[in-house]
Amino acid sequence: MKKLAILISGTGSNMIAINDACEEGIINAEVAVVISNVVSAPGIQYASNNGIPSFVVDHRRISRQSFDEIVSVILSQFNPDYVCLAGFMRILGEDIISRYEGRMINIHPSLLPKYPGLNTHERVLDARDAQHGATVHYVIPELDAGPIIQQVAMPMIYPTTAKETKQRLIRKERQLYVQVMRDLCQ
Ligand code: GRF
Repeated sequence: MKKLAILISGTGSNMIAINDACEEGIINAEVAVVISNVVSAPGIQYASNNGIPSFVVDHRRISRQSFDEIVSVILSQFNPDYVCLAGFMRILGEDIISRYEGRMINIHPSLLPKYPGLNTHERVLDARDAQHGATVHYVIPELDAGPIIQQVAMPMIYPTTAKETKQRLIRKERQLYVQVMRDLCQ
């Protein structure tokens, strides 16, 4: 059985979907630790309520380097096979990324290489793209640029809003992330 660490910043619905799939035996792994950089992230509350070792490292009070070092120390206590970034809105430095090379994974709400970075739904709407989607990829120091593992596409239906688009896509994101982790942990 593999061990997963999951890094979040918000709701954590991807983390919850992965944890559920682990508990149901769909993914041959356990969520060993959840780390949030946001104190008020609902996902961290969920994790601690569900008996998952949970840590908050508040990035606002420390340097980028200290943040990465503290996260590294926590991760090394749990010795995870994979580090999953799931709605984790912090850019990590090269040291921590290289330590988990080929084992650090991110989900991004666009069909990369289109729309790396923020506000992907707004950018899809502005361009009136016929298709949107999400990507699970390996993390490298360059933002949202690592090797793609798997993508899911979603046809756009206009008129719509960024909020509605996000809600439609996140359901597909959760399925995609679970599927990728199931395959990697086999
Ligand atoms: C997802 O859309 C993810 O792709 C993006 O942030 C959102 C996180 O959602 N980076 P959740 O916290 O997993 O619910």
